[in-house]
Amino acid sequence: MASVNYQFMTFDTYISAEKIAERVRELAQQMAKDYAGRTPHFICVLNGAVFFFSDLLRAFPLDCTMSFVQLRSYDGTESTGEVEEVKPIDVDVRDRDVIVVEDIVETGLSMHYLKPVLEEQKPRSIRVVSLLYKPSELHYEDAAPDYVGFEVSREFVIGYGLDIDGIARNLPDIYTLRK
Ligand code: IMP
Ligand code: MG
Repeated sequence: MASVNYQFMTFDTYISAEKIAERVRELAQQMAKDYAGRTPHFICVLNGAVFFFSDLLRAFPLDCTMSFVQLRSYDGTESTGEVEEVKPIDVDVRDRDVIVVEDIVETGLSMHYLKPVLEEQKPRSIRVVSLLYKPSELHYEDAAPDYVGFEVSREFVIGYGLDIDGIARNLPDIYTLRK
């Protein structure tokens, strides 16, 4: 589909499913090199990272464990400025190499919130992998992702996990709002 419509807005194809799949495989290979000899613990930030997480982990060739956290900071197409922990972390990550898996880092508020929560448990290391990154919008410097799939401009994007008011997550491609 070249374009889709939601809430009277038109979104155009931006990153195809094929390009996403290729980049996810590259990321998994790169991370496998960096974590050779370790058994990292991946944390999926629900809901947005669900497809990226499942594709990335299946492409990751080393032993690993996984868990889930659910954060919410968005309302429609605007960040609310506050983070709500809808599903808290329920796994002990002490001495573990933690890799947080995000769909997109925009202002960095979500990671700025989550990293100190994890650090309280004294993990061996914490890194963030984000499929998308909007560097021009980063407000919290400590939240810059360690691994990035694609750097994108500031426009609102949907698909492959990213939503507009809960809709459009299941689109296989990523779309950007037409101006
Ligand atoms: P941050 O906390 O400002 O970095 O934003 C992170 C969260 O906001 C992401 O995990 C997404 O859930 C959501 N978000 C940010 N930008 C977009 C977008 O362009 N489309 C859909 N969701 C977004
Ligand atoms: Mg998210």
